[in-house]
Amino acid sequence: MEQRDFDKDAASYDMKPGRVKLAQDVATSIMDAVKLNSDMDILDFGCGTGLVTLQLQPFVRTITGADSSHGMLDVLRAKIAERKLTNIKTEFIDPEKSVVLKNKYYLVVCSMTLHHVKELVHIFHEFHNCLLPGGQICIADLDSDEGEFHRDKTGVVHSGFDRAEMRRLLIAGGFQDVRDVTAASVVRESSDGRSREFTVFLMTGRRC
Ligand SMILES: C[S@@+](CC[C@H](N)C(=O)[O-])C[C@H]1O[C@@H](n2cnc3c(N)ncnc32)[C@H](O)[C@@H]1O
Repeated sequence: MEQRDFDKDAASYDMKPGRVKLAQDVATSIMDAVKLNSDMDILDFGCGTGLVTLQLQPFVRTITGADSSHGMLDVLRAKIAERKLTNIKTEFIDPEKSVVLKNKYYLVVCSMTLHHVKELVHIFHEFHNCLLPGGQICIADLDSDEGEFHRDKTGVVHSGFDRAEMRRLLIAGGFQDVRDVTAASVVRESSDGRSREFTVFLMTGRRC
């Protein structure tokens, strides 16, 4: 399956107000679900241009933005430099490598990225391995959308997710206290030209 070229999109990624609003809603939902504090080192997997990263950054010790697109990471690095932020690290992820995450975190967040990741069992294993005991996971992504959310479907390997199935995968992957809420909704024209509401869930869990 062809990968989406996020490098090409990086410079203009933040220009869509709907994307910025969605990231803000997701960050608010994360902060409602997890009490962030200044002792926490956290990971934003698939951080993109850092729309969620930068919302969480003021409340934690460090946040690592990890992404498989150099272009997206370059945009985030430019924001870090411009704002003179000292507690954000960036990490390139090679999606071809089987072990990708080396450090340990109290929290892993992952917003609007998993629908681009084919092997969910593998990535949940990675998330579990990089969490400290008792650490938490927050996944935000689309509810099942019948393939209508993305007009450009390049690199989209899941047409949203069924929450019950994702919950089952997380529990099988060693997470407990798995819960979900609706974090955001987006109204946009679907591929048949009609206006439709798409919802985004936040699913949380704790490493056993
Ligand atoms: C739709 S963007 C979401 C960006 C950001 N999380 C947000 O909410 O604004 C998806 C991001 O996931 C990244 N990505 C896709 N597949 C990935 C993988 N296997 N590993 C790491 N990052 C990935 C892309 O490069 C892109 O930056």
